[in-house]
Amino acid sequence: MRKHIVAGNWKMNTTVPEGVELAKAVVAKSAEVPADVKLIIATPFTHLYPVNEVVKGSAVGLSAENCADKEKGAYTGEVSVSMLTSTGCEYTILGHSERRQYYGETDEKLVEKTRLAIAAGLQVILCVGENLDEREAGKHFEVVGAQTRNVLGNFTAEDMAKIIIAYEPVWAIGTGKTATADQAEEIHAYIRGILKDMFGAQVADDTTILYGGSCKPSNAGELFAKPDIDGGLIGGAALKAEDFIGIALSF
Ligand code: 13P
Repeated sequence: MRKHIVAGNWKMNTTVPEGVELAKAVVAKSAEVPADVKLIIATPFTHLYPVNEVVKGSAVGLSAENCADKEKGAYTGEVSVSMLTSTGCEYTILGHSERRQYYGETDEKLVEKTRLAIAAGLQVILCVGENLDEREAGKHFEVVGAQTRNVLGNFTAEDMAKIIIAYEPVWAIGTGKTATADQAEEIHAYIRGILKDMFGAQVADDTTILYGGSCKPSNAGELFAKPDIDGGLIGGAALKAEDFIGIALSF
């Protein structure tokens, strides 16, 4: 059976000492969260090692926000998957819309990154989602379908055990404008249908699909009550331990 997950994406926020304090607060409150809800925090690269010192031995998982599309070598400024695993981190977000939009992340690069991450033993939180123009033009199914197929078409049913999908409509990220629970559910169900087509019913049923975009304690309950929404990828509200845990308590 698929897992319930609440993952916090800290993005480019907090200094290292602030991040360590935030992680301590999350770990301290994590005991309130039922064991069937997995908490993950995704931090900037600089924070991974010291934050791992805080979360190790707890139920809180640690994720990066990106990784290099090359294994190692002369790629100044990049961070490889083996560097990530050496910090103790177990997950990485890939294909976040901010990386697609501002840093030229393509589906082709995401295939390489996903391949390297899985080979290194990381679990991948793969993000998909349409922007406002695409939504208004009624192309959201087409866009999300293409993003999903373009990357996952290169992987096997076995690989899917290491892949979590996050649907994040770009127009709902950091805008305070959440997709309604029905809008989110119809895309989640659509993605699950694609997984069924590609990998069969078992994989479709076992894959965790998260919703992201202005998710907060006040709206998480309605979203998580939907049959195909298995949790959230949280931005702004993940920067306050109380709100982050409040979301995890919304199942
Ligand atoms: P917000 O929760 O701030 O809208 O961000 C969502 C997000 O992009 C998580 O990856």
